[in-house]
Amino acid sequence: MQRRKEETDKPQMNQPPDYGGQAFTFHFPPLTNHCLLLTAHCSPLTAHRSLLTAYRLLLTAYSPHPSPMRLNSFQGKRLLALARGGDYAHAGETDSIDLVWNPLPKNPDQRVLDAGCGRGGTAAYIQRAGWGKVTGIDIEGESIQRAREIYPEITFDVCSVEEAARIGSGIFDIICCFNSFYAFSDQPAALRAFAHSAKPEAHLAIFEYTDPGTFKQSALGQHVELLGWHPLILSTISTLLTETGWTLDTIQDVTTDYIRWYKTFSDRIRELRPKLIEECGIETWQYASNFYDLMHETIKTGYMGGAIVYAKHPAN
Ligand SMILES: C[S@@+](CC[C@H](N)C(=O)[O-])C[C@H]1O[C@@H](n2cnc3c(N)ncnc32)[C@H](O)[C@@H]1O
Repeated sequence: MQRRKEETDKPQMNQPPDYGGQAFTFHFPPLTNHCLLLTAHCSPLTAHRSLLTAYRLLLTAYSPHPSPMRLNSFQGKRLLALARGGDYAHAGETDSIDLVWNPLPKNPDQRVLDAGCGRGGTAAYIQRAGWGKVTGIDIEGESIQRAREIYPEITFDVCSVEEAARIGSGIFDIICCFNSFYAFSDQPAALRAFAHSAKPEAHLAIFEYTDPGTFKQSALGQHVELLGWHPLILSTISTLLTETGWTLDTIQDVTTDYIRWYKTFSDRIRELRPKLIEECGIETWQYASNFYDLMHETIKTGYMGGAIVYAKHPAN
């Protein structure tokens, strides 16, 4: 797959590693490690399927001529949006938005920041449901351009979360992140910027993957697409929030929901095979199908989980 020039000129979040011989040999020990871990925890059939998927993904990721496919790219998010039936690139689509928002105050006049908003579907869903007036920010210009065209009623800005303070000081009642926090290159800086732009007593809701401590040992944790991934570490999140101007409120474990959502999503990618291949090509479909099979397997076998973290900004 050939990248357009503007795409290659843009800063890439997850730069591919050096594909020289050294990188190739370096990455095999973790795979072996993962194989041992998987075979120790799974049924022989599950372990066989996982190993096959991991092997296919690693061949793609570490081959000397790797595909430039990235699911967090504009094209990747397009395939995900088609498969999810909406402009969402997070687990659970509208089910998870409802889940995250149900305990939060509902008021169409309050101001909401959707940080790492992608193609804007989540921001539009939140505003249309009457939860608040939403501003969406994302580092990726093509997604924001499209979001502005499709959802003109929402304010969108190309802005890295680490610079979110420039959107305004003390203006947001609620700040939410839907499967974007894991990708922030400087999570403490992002939280500090959110604190700057939050009103006193504002709410923060982070819907995210979690790392129980074994994520980096899994085949998914070794995957080239995920080298820049930093899922939430729940044992340290309270300290991180306190140091960045927030107070932890509650943590809701949604790992069981994640397992169900990713099973449904993997199945849907297979069901939609002809349509997705027609729209995005066989290579992209194959990549996504393998990726989400492995994602489901990784969560099911306990190497990754999911949680919603709620925090509050202190009163003045
Ligand atoms: C998996 S997508 C989720 C998009 C959206 N929240 C949704 O639910 O559809 C992660 C998003 O985070 C964005 N992102 C990653 N790092 C960022 C940063 N430092 N600043 C702003 N956005 C960022 C990516 O461009 C991508 O659109």
